[in-house]
Amino acid sequence: MENIIKIAKSVPLQGEVRTSGAKNSAVAIIPATVLASGPCVLENVPPLTDVRTQCEILSCLGADIQWLDTSTVRIDPRGIQNLTPPEHLASQLRASYYLMGAMLGRFGQAKIGLPGGCKIGPRPIDQHLKGFQALGCSWSIDNGNVSLQGAGMGSGNVYFDLITVGATINVMLAAAGVEGTTTIENAAREPEIIDLANFLNKIGVLVKGAGTGTIRITGAKDRGQADHCIIPDRIEAGTFMIAATATGGDVLIKDVIPRHLESVTAKLRETGVVVEEGDDWLRVIGPERGRAIDVKTLPYPGFPTDLQQPFGAYLSRCLGTSIITENIFENRFRYVDELKRMGAQIKVEGRVAVVEGVEEIRGASVQSSDLRASSALVIAGLSARGVTRIKGIEYLQRGYDDFVGKLKNLGAEIELT
Ligand code: EPZ
Repeated sequence: MENIIKIAKSVPLQGEVRTSGAKNSAVAIIPATVLASGPCVLENVPPLTDVRTQCEILSCLGADIQWLDTSTVRIDPRGIQNLTPPEHLASQLRASYYLMGAMLGRFGQAKIGLPGGCKIGPRPIDQHLKGFQALGCSWSIDNGNVSLQGAGMGSGNVYFDLITVGATINVMLAAAGVEGTTTIENAAREPEIIDLANFLNKIGVLVKGAGTGTIRITGAKDRGQADHCIIPDRIEAGTFMIAATATGGDVLIKDVIPRHLESVTAKLRETGVVVEEGDDWLRVIGPERGRAIDVKTLPYPGFPTDLQQPFGAYLSRCLGTSIITENIFENRFRYVDELKRMGAQIKVEGRVAVVEGVEEIRGASVQSSDLRASSALVIAGLSARGVTRIKGIEYLQRGYDDFVGKLKNLGAEIELT
């Protein structure tokens, strides 16, 4: 029997919700512990399937993994002997490819299956390979595996042809293990990259400029070990801001870094939402019905592509016509067909979706196609008349810690059946 989420039209969400640790930071820092010389304790790690899979991969390679509680994990990388992650695990998440950079940094070689991940577009790795090549690595791809040889590896300079979070992180990991200073130009600036840089600095690598377009990494052969607390998940927090707004609710979101959500706060305010900010909290008070606006996804600090789908669900009921432009991924509007089954009026042309806001959408049985499409459909269900049933909820568990439970605590009529 397939699990589904059943949602009835909810009262305006009210109350407090705490954000968990950032998935996209944890799935980068867990592989980064391969570079440490001893045990590292990571705190505020979100207990998500993608995170647990990343830990399982390290364990298969020979690391000692101990969960000290649901969000604290001790990783001792000293036992790692095997250089190739098991295919059945690596294919479950795209972030398994961070093992390329980490293994290159520590062992000077790696062999990883080509990445898996959500179906939001072709997920090439040409920029990753360009970065490794700049460090003197050679690579070959045979039957779905990338083999990297870095015998004569050294520092280098790489200019990314486009801004890419994954390739920025992968090159940082590889450069961390080689003597000399590597420069990355046109680097991604996401907060998760700063979090990784902070961890690398703790184990003796010198990383400067993380959070800007130019990052300099001075690698070290002798590295230490360190404990680290993962930053809050800005995408989870943003999802709850949008859920609160879409139901006209009043929700306090705690354990956030408001600066990481500046673009989301700005766009919500444009639709008529009141957002109050504190040091580590945001209060969101949604209007009865928001105003339509235009939104374009951009690399950080622009509006995050990971919130384009939840935001689209909210805009489907806003007053007026909104235009959504998805500049990061080629195929991130698959949720629109499902919203249209609920009565939304949306027309997609390539990277642009034109949303004619409707007063009401109706519950329906819908199918989720990826992680953030799942949260978009949940948000639509919260504000739709009648009952919505969502299939494909395993995606949700990959990226949100107890999403259903947290929404229930805010008054949502939602259950996992
Ligand atoms: C990371 O994916 C995140 N995943 C994504 O979150 C996020 O949407 C994305 O960054 C953008 O912010 C993780 O951190 C695990 P990119 P990533 O490399 O690294 C193209 C979620 O829901 N590209 O920044 O794969 C690529 O096709 C996930 O949590 C190349 O062409 O994204 C895309 O169009 C979804 N060649 C664009 O760049 C390359 O070598 C941005 O990709 C690499 C990327």
